[in-house]
Parts: sequence; C-alpha cells; structure tokens
Amino acid sequence: MQPRRVYIETYGCQMNVADTEVVLGHLSAHGYERTTSPDVADVILLNTCAIREHAEERVLARLATLARHKARRPDVKLGLAGCMVQHLRQHLLERAPYVDVLVGPDAYRRLPDLLAEHSHDPLVDLRLDRAEVYADIVPRRERGIRAWVTAMRGCDRFCTFCVVPYVRGRERSAPGPMLVEQVRDLAAAGYREVVYLGQTVNAYHDGQWDFAELLRHTATVEGIERIRFTSPHPAEMSDRLIEAMATIPRVSPYLHLPVQSGSDRVLRRMARDYDTAAYLALVDRLRAAIPDLALSTDLIVGFPHEEAADFAATLDLVRAVRFDHAFMFKYSRRSGTKAHAWGETVGEDEKAARLAELIALQEAIAAEKNRDLVGRTVSVLVEGPAKRPAGWCFGRTPHFKATVFPGPAASGSLVRVPIGEATAHTLIASLTPPLHSRPPSPTCPQ
Ligand code: 5AD
Ligand code: SF4
Repeated sequence: MQPRRVYIETYGCQMNVADTEVVLGHLSAHGYERTTSPDVADVILLNTCAIREHAEERVLARLATLARHKARRPDVKLGLAGCMVQHLRQHLLERAPYVDVLVGPDAYRRLPDLLAEHSHDPLVDLRLDRAEVYADIVPRRERGIRAWVTAMRGCDRFCTFCVVPYVRGRERSAPGPMLVEQVRDLAAAGYREVVYLGQTVNAYHDGQWDFAELLRHTATVEGIERIRFTSPHPAEMSDRLIEAMATIPRVSPYLHLPVQSGSDRVLRRMARDYDTAAYLALVDRLRAAIPDLALSTDLIVGFPHEEAADFAATLDLVRAVRFDHAFMFKYSRRSGTKAHAWGETVGEDEKAARLAELIALQEAIAAEKNRDLVGRTVSVLVEGPAKRPAGWCFGRTPHFKATVFPGPAASGSLVRVPIGEATAHTLIASLTPPLHSRPPSPTCPQ
C-alpha cells in the first residue's frame, strides 16, 4: 500500500518546531510519509501558536486557503494541532467547522487513530497529560548540524501575561538517560549541536538529575561540539547550573535569559518572581563565572499600567546589561490569563513608539558589541551556504553570532574566521588585511 502523505506547517516557537518533528516521527511510524506539497497530501496539518495576537487570523486565513485541497479532493483530512487549538477550541470550531481533527500539544499520539476515523464532525482531543513527554517517539528531524531536543514540557509559573501554562499544561521532564541516548544517536547521525528545549528548561528535573546534571552527561557524548538550551527562567538559575556552564567546554558561553521588563513594579504585576536588582545580580554572577558570556533576552512593552517611567526603567536595564540580542514584543492581551482582566492601558500608537525606541537602543548596543569583534578571529561552526554573496558560507560562533565568510567549507566543520566588519546581526569575514596595514594607494578610487 502506498504510504499516506502528510503536509505540515509550523507556527510559533522552537518548541512547536520540535513538536512538529515528533508528530512527523509518530506518523511515519504509522505508515505516513512527509510531503512538502499540499497538492499531493492526504493529510494537511497546521501546528499553531497562541502566544500573541494576529496568530488566529493568520491561521484561519491559511486554513481557508488549504481547505481548497479538500474541496477538490474530499478524502483529504485537515487538522489543527498545537497551542491555539487548546486556547481557542470553540472559536476555531465555529470559524472552521470543516476541519477534521483538532489536537492539543499532549494528544499527538492519538493522531494516527483520529486521522483513520470517519466522522462528519471534527474529532477533538485536547486532554492535557501530566506525564506526556513523547520520550519514546523518535522525531523526524530536518537535516542540518543542529538538533532540537525537548527536555521538559509545560510550565508551572503562570506569568500573568502568558497563555503557555494553560495551553501546554503542567511542567514535566523527560528521563535524562533517554535524552542522552537521543543525543548519542544525533551525534552518530552527524549533528554537531544540541539545543535542549523547555518553557522553563532550567527547572528540568527527572527525579534523579537536575539540569546541570543533564548537561554534564550530555557533554560526554563524542561528536557533539556545542550544547545550548532555551529558555531558562532567571529565578531558576542555580549555582550548580552556572558552574556547569562555566566548566563544561562544550556548553556554549551564550544564554537567553528573558527579563521581560526593567521596572520592578511591572515585574511584580507580571509575577516574574525576581526584581531588577536580582536580575542584575544574576547577570553579574554569570559574567563572573563566564567572563565572555553572550546574553540575549525577551522584552515586552505596553504591559497593563506600564507608565512612561516603567518603560524608561526598561531602557535603563537594557543599557546596563548590554544584551547581545533581544526579542522585543508589544504586549498582547490573552484570554484566560490573569492580566486579561487588567485590559489594555497603553494605546497602540504608544506601544509602537515604545517598541521602536527599545529596538533602536538594542540594535545600537548589538552593533557596538559586534563591532568590538572586528579585527578578532572567531571560531565558527559551519551551517551551510550564506544567502549572499554567492560562494560564501554561514555559521555561528560559540556566542551564537551569525557569521558569513568566503567558502568553501563543509557543513558541520569548525573554521577560524577573521572578522572585518559587523552589523547588529551579523559578523562579516575580512577578505583583505585591515586598512591601516595597507600602504595608501594612489589609484584608490575614493
Ligand atoms: N504578549 C507579548 N509577549 C508575550 N510573550 C509571552 N506572552 C506574551 C504576551 N501575552 C513573550 C515573552 C516570552 C516570549 C516567548 O514571548 O517575552 O518570553
Ligand atoms: Fe510563560 Fe512565564 Fe511560563 Fe515563560 S515562565 S512559559 S513566560 S508562564
């Protein structure tokens, strides 16, 4: 029998990308194969996200487009998976009653059964499962040098703006030895970098190992050059973990440490469980242990009751820490969260203005920090060809800085690259000796 073909689109964060790989792994164990074309697919799935607004409209519009395949070929099954399904089940069923299957993040094991059933009504499985970690399912990964490995799922923190604890359920960790075994297989398959994922990944605990212990065991796997993780919660950064980062050479000197705001008043209302003094002290501890640590963060502007002074405090914190990179968002009111009841107090224009100011500041800092690397030689793990110029390659430094340099170089190899130029987002290799060491040229056109 010909395998059934599944087409899947993924929205949102890396956790969702990793979940898509789990879904594909599970479906391929049940006789499906992946297709990159909806035209030939028997099953069309959208793995959705609920973290910020506009996502629903985008997904509904995309779904309506993809429904044309079902209109033409009625046997096609249309499915929605992921966080938005958990968050907006009723709304989605009303707006897209033609969908065949709706599955939440803990129900992917049921997909083969649900897709095999014949039903006029949508089949729905939104049960959250306190134990589900999919540890026994071998994900069907994208080829490349980097593999995402989900170490823990769910979140127990209930930050007041965030929908994740409601849609992904309670925190639970995959067994450490199984994760290390997975990493061994990844190394054997040619992957060079492993990124552990979890909503609060440093809260990882499987009953035996904490996250520091998991890193120690992972670092024994030959062939894996770099180990990273995302996203840790500042309130869960233990001394043991900092020490593990500082002492295990394979653990990258890079940390994504979401701060969300630089105002203590806002942080309290967000229920983040730290204030700015604690965050700054943590950054000092980290930098004392890992002197060249690169830091990135997440920031939200326009949270309910964020006054001009609160926003100014966020700018001050960004100036004080000097992050290498930041993801910056306008607050998005999510139904079901505690902050939903506080409404919107910052107008859309003001939010946009604050976001623009924050981005401008952060970009300037990132550009300055990257320019400090000009003239230095960095180690780059090669990922593949650069988008441009032709013949150039792309890779990242241990500090996760995107770097482009003249090829050729094999994907997965480590090369040393002299940096000649830098933007806020990219380091660019120097082709020629630094200008000051060149004799002045009479023919120089400028
Ligand atoms: N509005 C804006 N940003 C949000 N995030 C999470 N929920 C919201 C929301 N309701 C951001 C946070 C988090 C990142 C993954 O997404 O900064 O760290
Ligand atoms: Fe959301 Fe807070 Fe949990 Fe992160 S720690 S997933 S922001 S509730």
